Amino acid sequence: MQPTAFVFDAYGTLFDVAAAARTAAAEPGAGRLAGVWPRLAEDWRRKQLEYSWLRAIMGAHADFAEVTADALDWALEAQGMGAEHDLRARLLALYDRLEAYPEVPEVLARLKAGGRALAILSNGAPAMLGAAIRSAGIDGLIDRAISVEEVGVYKPSPRVYALVESHLGVPPGQVMFVSSNGWDIAGAARFGFLTAWVNRAGAPVDRLPHGPAHILTDLTPLPDFL
Ligand code: LAC
Repeated sequence: MQPTAFVFDAYGTLFDVAAAARTAAAEPGAGRLAGVWPRLAEDWRRKQLEYSWLRAIMGAHADFAEVTADALDWALEAQGMGAEHDLRARLLALYDRLEAYPEVPEVLARLKAGGRALAILSNGAPAMLGAAIRSAGIDGLIDRAISVEEVGVYKPSPRVYALVESHLGVPPGQVMFVSSNGWDIAGAARFGFLTAWVNRAGAPVDRLPHGPAHILTDLTPLPDFL
């Protein structure tokens, strides 16, 4: 089955979530961050995802901007940098303009030239997502940026994946869902999407029901599905 739409996860798939800490660490006066930024970035991302899942299970939704800031507070405190308020503000500002991975603009352009609908389906709150899409220069390529805020629960709730058909009018079996998160791929495959897991880090396949149909090392091979 050839997909009629390509739907992308945002953070970690199109946008490099480590870029905020990496960029701040290279700035003058970065101090301790210069040495600890990889650990900080990892903690920040892990806590951000854990908080999203836990809030979904608890029925205590808060938007991804709040969850992202909470996770950063945890990660900074874990490094003994909980009082560095300017750094906190700088990191959150950088999160609104993360770099896209280098192959992203060209791959999206080729899929679009192939006549496919392109969408983002993300935990990101609409303002965060809009800022990241604009700063990455891909706003002319994405037809829809769909946020979980419409249903007030995080991935991998099936209520989130159901947003794709209501926005694009494309049934799940014709959607190629692309994510670098194995757990997101599991949720999407369970929902009935075609799936491509972008395994940039060479991680093992998650032991969850419904694995990825395709495994890529980056987005470059996606036009082969046209
Ligand atoms: C997103 C997170 C899961 O963009 O990366 O939805």
